[in-house]
Amino acid sequence: MSFPGQVKIVEVGPRDGLQNEAGTVPAEIKVQLIEMLADAGLPVVESGAFVSPKWVPQMATSAEVFTRIRRRDDVSYPMLVPNLKGLEIALAAGVEEVALFAASTETFSQKNTNCSIAESIERFNAVIDEALAAGVKVRGYISCVLGCPYEGEVSFDTVSMIAQKMLEKGCYEVSLGDTIGVGTAGLATELIEVLSRQVPVAQLAAHFHDTYGQALANIHAVMQCGIAVVDSSVAGLGGCPYAKGATGNVATEDVVYMLHGMGIETGVDMGKLLEAGRFISDFLGREPVSRAATALLRKQAG
Ligand code: HMG
Ligand code: MG
Repeated sequence: MSFPGQVKIVEVGPRDGLQNEAGTVPAEIKVQLIEMLADAGLPVVESGAFVSPKWVPQMATSAEVFTRIRRRDDVSYPMLVPNLKGLEIALAAGVEEVALFAASTETFSQKNTNCSIAESIERFNAVIDEALAAGVKVRGYISCVLGCPYEGEVSFDTVSMIAQKMLEKGCYEVSLGDTIGVGTAGLATELIEVLSRQVPVAQLAAHFHDTYGQALANIHAVMQCGIAVVDSSVAGLGGCPYAKGATGNVATEDVVYMLHGMGIETGVDMGKLLEAGRFISDFLGREPVSRAATALLRKQAG
């Protein structure tokens, strides 16, 4: 069994975590959360989305949020974009990295982006071309890689085809989304084995939602296949508005606790991360959805 000595954590809480919140989270709260996460040592903090505000109202303040962040030189602040319009807004705001997304089933693609998989490939190709021409880095996401809320089982060949297209076109990394958290360790391992025949594992990331409590086990499993980039959400915030019943990403606190316990470096300061989780949980008026955060905060309180 071999594990990477170091894992890069991509914090997606301010975007994936908050996009599904029913009540408006003011821009200043988002800005403060993003700054706390960056100060906690997270190297990437996905900070919002330039998507249609009619589709995801919570992300409507993203341009204001991005421009107000006190940005650190050692941290990336990618913004999610679904199309050229989103990219235009990103470029106007001075964004240096964008993330785009496609789905591995036709139904989820329609529900989430109002287009087929083939159309989504055309869309992201255009976004990648323009972004790279403007000197902006691009990360890709593929949703529903271990199961779809509408179609059930997914084809790993389709996941592989989309990942290849994203990487060939110029994404530096593709993040594999278990959007509804249904996957288990055997399936997650099989997915990486299938993908590794076509794409370099070093360019893949794990983006596992924790709906069924399997995310940590799945991360542990795919790390053994060489995955060394893990997406997570502080306090386990979140869910996708177009995946009913899906809960948040795996909690960053849980991932950091596991990795540090295994002697794997992340660069994250657990104390500061706990403060960020406490801050947003207090604002939302609920406890963090993280076993590690709950236990550590209880211990701190004595
Ligand atoms: P559409 O309705 O087909 O778009 O939606 P359209 O091009 O016909 O435009 C309709 C209206 O939206 C127009 O405004 C456009 O200007 C506007 P109107 O003329 O009606 O006033 N519009 C925009 N406004 C702001 N920013 C934009 C933009 N584009 C169009 N970028 C569209 C197509 C893709 C826009 C829509 O489906 C959409 O925004 N979808 C995003 C849904 C979303 O954000 N989902 C959650 C994020 S993905 C996720 O969570 C999964 C992930 O975490 C990985 C995983 O877990 O699997 C990444
Ligand atoms: Mg997600």
